[in-house]
Amino acid sequence: MSTKDKIIVALDVESCDKALTLVESLEGHANFFKIGLGLIGKGGLELAYEIKKRGFNVFLDLKLLDISNTIKNAVSGLCEANFDFLTVQGDPQVIKAAVEGRGQTDTKILAVTFLTSLNREDLDQNLIKPGEIQTLASSRAEKAILAGADGVIASSKELPMIRANPLCMTKIIVTPGIRPTNSAINDQKRVATPSEALKMGASYLVIGRPICQANDPLAAYKKIKKEILDT
Ligand code: C5P
Repeated sequence: MSTKDKIIVALDVESCDKALTLVESLEGHANFFKIGLGLIGKGGLELAYEIKKRGFNVFLDLKLLDISNTIKNAVSGLCEANFDFLTVQGDPQVIKAAVEGRGQTDTKILAVTFLTSLNREDLDQNLIKPGEIQTLASSRAEKAILAGADGVIASSKELPMIRANPLCMTKIIVTPGIRPTNSAINDQKRVATPSEALKMGASYLVIGRPICQANDPLAAYKKIKKEILDT
């Protein structure tokens, strides 16, 4: 897989028009785009269909959580478009229902372990049991894989532990919280550079603001690719 295939650009912009302009400005360079909750209320789903129709890979990042029956129906509908990746929360019963809903389509079901914006203090607030975030995320990843997930979303800090688990060794790991050298961290708390994350075992990198908010997104994208190839 080439570097370009491993970078997923998160289309975290204010409107679908802006997102489409971004996709077009990266055409020929980036080929994998993530559409998340920020655009869903503004036509994001239609945008996802359009981008898929144009031949790009699409990651629908909806982080679904609901009762099994609703998850199954939601995923079944969404998978008709054969999006490449779809996220659900990492609760085993949610994953099982999502896998059922996916049916024979090719969409990969990816489970969210813990958001990369969370640290231990945040987990305390959410009444998550004591323990190191890496250990908890790793055991959540294992449970997700056992429930049938094709892979997980995990921060760079959890990557080594998850990759070391024989059950997760060959699974997809998508890593957000990526910051090229010298760029702003924003609200992410567990970050790594693109090269670090790939060396630690990420299959794909999700990169949003460092590209979307750059004055020249294509230049920012190319710089990231170069940084990966040079280090
Ligand atoms: O701008 P930035 O590169 O921080 O964007 C990261 C993207 O990855 C956002 O779209 C965010 O929703 C997503 N994400 C995340 N942490 C997760 C799962 C997805 O930051 N655990």
